[in-house]
Amino acid sequence: MNIVRLLLLAALIALSAGAQAKYNGEDRGKPVMPAQSNAKWLAECGGCHMAFPPGLLPAASWKKIMTGLDKHFDTDASLSAPDAKEITDYLVKYPSNRWTASSAPLRISDAAWFKAKHSSGEINPAVWKRESVKSPANCMACHSGADKGDFNENSIRIPK
Ligand code: HEC
Ligand code: HEC
Repeated sequence: MNIVRLLLLAALIALSAGAQAKYNGEDRGKPVMPAQSNAKWLAECGGCHMAFPPGLLPAASWKKIMTGLDKHFDTDASLSAPDAKEITDYLVKYPSNRWTASSAPLRISDAAWFKAKHSSGEINPAVWKRESVKSPANCMACHSGADKGDFNENSIRIPK
C-alpha cells in the first residue's frame, strides 16, 4: 500500500469513528441534563415517574405536554399557571436536538432514535413486559443514572 492510500484509509477510519460517536450520543450538541436544574420541575414532574431531563424531547413536545397536563397520559397532572410557565420555560430552554422541527412526539419512547437504540438484539422483546420494567418510559429500570441524564452504556443493567 502506498502512502496516499494509507492516508486515505486513515482519514476514512477517522470519519466513520466521528459518525459513530455522533450516533452513540457523544456528540449531540447539548447534554441531556443541563447543568442548571429547576426545583419546581424536579418536585412537580418527578412525583409519578422520574423527572425526564429536558434534553430528551424537543421544545415543541414539551410545549404540547405542558399545555395538556389535565389529560396527561390518562392522569391529571395539572399545575397552577405560574408553575406551569416556570417549568415550561425551563424545559424549552434546554431541549433535545435529536429531532427535526416537524417531529414532536409526546413520548420519548416514540422517537425514532429511541426505537433505533432499543430495538437491537441486546434487548429481548420479552424484557419490556417484565414486572421490573413494565414500560419503555421506565428508563431507570435499565439506566440507573437516567434521572441525571446518564445513559452511558457502562451503566446499563437489564433487570431480571
Ligand atoms: C399524576 C402523575 C404524573 C405527574 C405529576 C406527571 N406525570 Fe408525566 N406521566 C405520567 C404517566 C402515568 C405517564 C405514562 C407512563 C407510561 O406510559 O409508562 C407519564 C408520561 C410522561 C412522559 C412520556 C414518557 C415516555 O417516553 O413514554 C413525559 C415526557 C412526561 N410524563 C412528562 C411529565 C412532565 C414534564 C411532568 C411535570 C409537568 C409530568 N410528566 C408529571 C404521570 C404523571
Ligand atoms: C429494558 C431496558 C431499558 C429501558 C427501560 C430503557 N433503555 Fe435505554 N438502552 C437500553 C440498552 C440495553 C441500551 C444499549 C443499546 C445498544 O447500544 O445496543 C440503551 C441505550 C440508550 C441510549 C443510547 C446510549 C448510548 O450511549 O448510545 C439512550 C440515550 C437511552 N437508552 C435512553 C433511554 C431513555 C430516555 C429511556 C426511558 C424513556 C430508556 N433508555 C429506557 C435499555 C433500556
